[in-house]
Amino acid sequence: MAIVGLANTASDLLRQHGKSRGAIDDDEDDYCLKGVRHLSDAGITRLPGRYVLPACDRPGRSVGAAPASARVKLPVVDLARLRVPSERDGVLRTLYTACRDYGFFHLVNHGVGAESVAAMLGVGARFFELPFPERARYMSPDVRAPVRYGTSFNQANDAVLCWRDFLKLSCAPPLGDVVPSWPDSPADLRDVAAAYAEASRRVFVEVVGAAMEAMGISGAEDGVMEELTSAGSQMMTVNCYPACPQPDLTLGMPPHSDYGFLTLVLQDEVEGLQVMHDGEWLTVDPVPGSFVVNVGDHFEIYSNGRYKSVLHRVCVNSTRPRISVASFHSVGAQRVVGPAPELIDEKRGGEPRRYMDTDFTTFLAYLASAEGKHKNFLQSRRLD
Ligand code: OGA
Ligand code: NI
Repeated sequence: MAIVGLANTASDLLRQHGKSRGAIDDDEDDYCLKGVRHLSDAGITRLPGRYVLPACDRPGRSVGAAPASARVKLPVVDLARLRVPSERDGVLRTLYTACRDYGFFHLVNHGVGAESVAAMLGVGARFFELPFPERARYMSPDVRAPVRYGTSFNQANDAVLCWRDFLKLSCAPPLGDVVPSWPDSPADLRDVAAAYAEASRRVFVEVVGAAMEAMGISGAEDGVMEELTSAGSQMMTVNCYPACPQPDLTLGMPPHSDYGFLTLVLQDEVEGLQVMHDGEWLTVDPVPGSFVVNVGDHFEIYSNGRYKSVLHRVCVNSTRPRISVASFHSVGAQRVVGPAPELIDEKRGGEPRRYMDTDFTTFLAYLASAEGKHKNFLQSRRLD
């Protein structure tokens, strides 16, 4: 399909959904829908109006200039120590409190090699350096497309656009079935991203198993652990946050929580990710080579609220472009997720059920209606 056709589709969608924004400058819309890399390459010095957040939603203080108290050293979970029998209990305790108190932790010694990590960040960065028409081949308004290049957060719904371009790669198992639909340029993208996806999946399986064990459950009774191990769903997003001329007025990603069980985020050495903790936005210190792992909505539901799917957002800055790679892991889209039976079984002195069951279709319907404010989705599943 012609590039212009695709771009128009997206902008038509935007127009339909954006009526409440009042008069729209069509030229500016079409320009913005080419993404922020395009704007940054064009050398703009002022942020187009479509990216300017209302004062109450702005980052408040620019990252880097923030006072020391607004930074956070997340708990560190060491996967190598988890494998040492005499140390396992201690690491499980750290994992449990991290998932309960922060919903976030750094994962170190995860076994994904430094070359593999560097190669993934590198090929991701090179994808966004491709000429725009090359990247635009993968634009699609279909959120279920196996490969999708786009901009902002939820482009069709965002009243204010975010300073982010992304490449989403479905890794739906079997991985081999989807890789041929991934971009064939840069030439090494498929090999590098497929190897990285496999490696991150292995890490996920080990960590989610440990996080179940830390709650004293196996995830076996309802087959959830089996599904996460053998099938499940995986989606990878490469996020590109170019240097932004007015970073105080916008965000790379708005406050949101992630949908699945766990997300593994690889960030380069540029900070930007912030997590909500005790009502404050805290900047996550980049720990080179580590994964930032966070609990998603499904795991909060499955853990019956013991683990927290926490709001997070991304700030941008005026000098240093940033790349991150997020790998989202969950059960298959057909599966209904509710609290683990092992936790809420009354006969075994279980706790009250705190969430309704949910599935992917319900989530998509919510996404389409709620302007991407995912947290509302989780709240909508709560029973108390
Ligand atoms: C995400 C996300 C954080 C980052 O992709 O959902 O929160 O640092 N990414 O890019
Ligand atoms: Ni996220």
